Amino acid sequence: MPLLDAARDVRENAYAPYSRFKVGAAVRAASGRVFAGCNVENAAYPEGTCAEAGAIAAMVAAGETVLTEVCVIADSPEPVPPCGGCRQKLAEFGGPDVPVTLATIGGVVAKTTIGALLPGSFSAAHMEKT
Ligand code: THU
Repeated sequence: MPLLDAARDVRENAYAPYSRFKVGAAVRAASGRVFAGCNVENAAYPEGTCAEAGAIAAMVAAGETVLTEVCVIADSPEPVPPCGGCRQKLAEFGGPDVPVTLATIGGVVAKTTIGALLPGSFSAAHMEKT
């Protein structure tokens, strides 16, 4: 699976000297192009960024704003679910039916969707005037 391969490869570049927990993420954009990101931590801990945020930033920087598939991988016993903030970030660019694959380096794979990860998400539609 190319998306999983991209996430696994980029995870190697994660900068995680504080948690020592490397995460890789990859998203497929509407064009079919794949964008990858890793977590980038900081000595000022809250300034660190998640792998999903990096992948989304790379996609948007390339001029794309719709994602059709997501993959996240970490070296954990069970697949790592995206944090709350990343669920909101994913929902900004992908619909509720977009498939999300959560994988471990050891080969455990869980499948979900953006909608299942963040039901009832806040969106731009909520700001429309009636
Ligand atoms: N992390 C991610 O990059 N993505 C996730 O889905 C969960 C957590 C990172 C943030 C931090 O650098 C490290 O994992 C430990 O929380």
